[in-house]
Amino acid sequence: MRAVCLGGGPAGLYFAISLKRRDLSHDVVVVERNGPDDTFGWGVVLSDETLDNLKANDPESAELIRSEFVYWDDIAVHYRNSVVTSTGHGFCGIGRKRLLSILQDRARALGVQLQFETEAKDLEAYRDFDLIVAADGVNSRVRTSHADIFQPDIDVRACKYVWLGTNQKFDDAFTFIFEETEYGWIWAHAYQFDADTATFIIECSQATWTRAGFDRMGIDETIAACEKIFARNLGGHRLMSNTRHLRGSAWLNFNRVLCERWSYRNIVLLGDAAATAHFSVGSGSKLAMESAIALAGYLHTESSMEAAFTRYEDERRLEVLRLQSAARNSTEWFENVERYLHLDPVQFNYSLLTRSQRISHENLRQRDSTWLAKAEKWFEKKATGLTPQVNHAPMFVPFRVRGIELKNRVVVSPMAQYRAVEGNPNDWHFVHYAERAKGGAGLVFTEMTCVSPEGRITPGCTGLYRDEHEKAWKRIVNFVHAETDAKIAIQLGHSGAKGSTQLGWETMDAPLAADNWEVIGPSPVPWSPGNQVPREMNRSDMDRVRDDYVRAAQMAVRAGFDWLELHYAHGYLMSSFITPLTNIRTDRYGGSLENRMLFPLEVFNAVRAVWPENKPISVRISANDWVGPNGITPQDAVAISRMLVVAGVDLIDVSAGQTSTQAKPVYGRMFQTPFSDRIRNEAGVATLAVGNIYEPDHVNSILMAGRADLVCLARPHLANPYWTLHAAADLGYEGAIWPKPYLAGRDQLHRLKARAEVMTGKV
Ligand SMILES: Cc1cc2nc3c(=O)[nH]c(=O)nc-3n(C[C@H](O)[C@H](O)[C@H](O)COP(=O)(O)OP(=O)(O)OC[C@H]3O[C@@H](n4cnc5c(N)ncnc54)[C@H](O)[C@@H]3O)c2cc1C
Ligand SMILES: Cc1cc2nc3c(=O)[nH]c(=O)nc-3n(C[C@H](O)[C@H](O)[C@H](O)COP(=O)(O)O)c2cc1C
Repeated sequence: MRAVCLGGGPAGLYFAISLKRRDLSHDVVVVERNGPDDTFGWGVVLSDETLDNLKANDPESAELIRSEFVYWDDIAVHYRNSVVTSTGHGFCGIGRKRLLSILQDRARALGVQLQFETEAKDLEAYRDFDLIVAADGVNSRVRTSHADIFQPDIDVRACKYVWLGTNQKFDDAFTFIFEETEYGWIWAHAYQFDADTATFIIECSQATWTRAGFDRMGIDETIAACEKIFARNLGGHRLMSNTRHLRGSAWLNFNRVLCERWSYRNIVLLGDAAATAHFSVGSGSKLAMESAIALAGYLHTESSMEAAFTRYEDERRLEVLRLQSAARNSTEWFENVERYLHLDPVQFNYSLLTRSQRISHENLRQRDSTWLAKAEKWFEKKATGLTPQVNHAPMFVPFRVRGIELKNRVVVSPMAQYRAVEGNPNDWHFVHYAERAKGGAGLVFTEMTCVSPEGRITPGCTGLYRDEHEKAWKRIVNFVHAETDAKIAIQLGHSGAKGSTQLGWETMDAPLAADNWEVIGPSPVPWSPGNQVPREMNRSDMDRVRDDYVRAAQMAVRAGFDWLELHYAHGYLMSSFITPLTNIRTDRYGGSLENRMLFPLEVFNAVRAVWPENKPISVRISANDWVGPNGITPQDAVAISRMLVVAGVDLIDVSAGQTSTQAKPVYGRMFQTPFSDRIRNEAGVATLAVGNIYEPDHVNSILMAGRADLVCLARPHLANPYWTLHAAADLGYEGAIWPKPYLAGRDQLHRLKARAEVMTGKV
């Protein structure tokens, strides 16, 4: 086969090597526009695992690369005059120049023809080749010239960065340095890659970059300015650039590239040309080289080039998506780093280390149990004021708000049971809530309990508008208080346009087959074309609804609830006032977000006035309508939270969606937690996170990183009311209090776990 690689970076060179390794008779040419030593960039980070893959493919080059590796285990974070160092992270690095020179030598030795200082312009020039590999980097000319076929999706990220080097030593740790300047925060990612040189990537927001005047500076001025900013860490050493041969600013925005198609006829995209991964997860070269192995491999195992391209794309796309997802979290963390810069250095460090959500609490324990133990102690001391004698996982640290103390931070999320008749909680509810309260969670929410009969979602929803409701709830609350140390919260709501619908396990949100009641809303906008058009509320409707809320809150006080939550999420009445999708009023209750919040705030104020001073009120919101800028966005959610906080709300319970049938939610593990993180750290309010959180490890990571103060689990508590007691047993937490009649069960569980640990060699 005659193959040409356009581009002599890691992708092009390593593909040429991999193809030759499989069959020396191939005729392979690499065309590179720069000279052999003119590369951009400094060091690259690889891992031992990548090296193993390279070794299986070509032991000669892998050995040379390994022999030049610089290893380091620690990550050091310099921030606000402190340095927090943790260990066990296991990286290795090599100079990009050295890597390329090893690959160039190896390619030559295998008979690859290297043509330097040759710009590939017109693909016509390569028509005699059987295979054209476009390995021409992130700005791939080949990809651009066939954009209609490859359909690249290029996401230009918000921060500015410049890739520099220095002779200052960073050989003891991968180092992050955050410096506050008069223009805003600027930070560096620094790591050693050979005996004398370290990579020093500097990054900042576009706003800081412009304020600092970097947009008007050439590379020499940029370097001089950055040397001043990072003087404390450079120890008198200079910063160096190797992009002088390039035109334009040395500062770049990272481009996240992903293509719809990776091949066309005999042309195939490879490396950054096909897909990129942000440098903060340090995997671009790894991705490029591992893709090169896959492509060369399939070209030999598959019966045709087309089949090889299909296998290559199928396999590598999956890997790319996995990495890009982690890289997106990491990129966004740096883009929003100013949100976290108020955190204590310990929590800031934890947030940084877990930013991609690939590293969890228990991963960190494996890496550096000493550091994690210190971090856990810090967390508990901050919450309780006391230095703990024994370490506790963050989920078991008490939480105090107003006069209420929760024994831990696990919350049974509100979940409609659809078992009530005429709004009346019955034996089902008694057993259901009693079980969850016995199960160890610090706080148990009731389902959305409706403030009036017409405010119910379904005929099976519970209410709090009749004396008998109050009595039935009081019986449940009394049991929880008498028999458990859990607290119990009532969630109050009004269904609005989503009312008069079927039970959860029938056709959800669809109107009843018969006996529908009239539904109301801010505007005559139905939930779906099949739902009733709600009657637009007038002021007297608003007065009535507000008074219904107040009456329900007064009943909740008498029933003895510890906590009250107002349900302002999921498209129900209050939520439908907040989102512009369903509130199209032209009076003072519609229009701007401030106007749309007027009625929800009025209801909150009225409820707060009758709710005991020593008990908290949380408000659940939908922090994202998932419809883009036409609906509520996470940014709006911060503004909503700020308004609620000013009014006196104690916590925001951060849910999302269910406000529009047009929504396109992006699901995943802990998928709503980023909204909680944003609200907590931008609006400065305590939050509850919820949504696909199901492992103790998730809960601990969220709490320790400061992404929420409490964590709600819904479905896990349907599957297992004793979720928290089991988590305590798993984590070896001794403080969980089991109901006395169940102590024998607890002891057996502990024994079985201890035995399993011995059998699996964990202890
Ligand atoms: C700041 C920064 C830090 C990074 N750190 C790391 C890291 O630590 N670890 C890691 O694994 N990855 C890292 N990367 C990513 C890594 O550099 C790339 O993912 C990797 O280089 C991709 O290899 P490639 O061969 O596809 O592209 P490149 O390395 O960009 O190579 C493309 C080559 O094609 C040549 N070329 C382009 N157009 C033409 C043309 N028309 N004719 C001829 N030649 C052409 C270019 O000169 C270049 O040599 C980092 C990237 C950046 C921006
Ligand atoms: C059966 C069921 C009923 C629910 N009812 C309510 C409710 O009454 N009020 C509410 O705010 N959320 C309700 N939710 C949403 C949950 O509280 C939670 O936000 C959601 O299920 C995501 O959490 P999870 O992934 O832990 O299940 C309900 C969820 C389920 C599964």
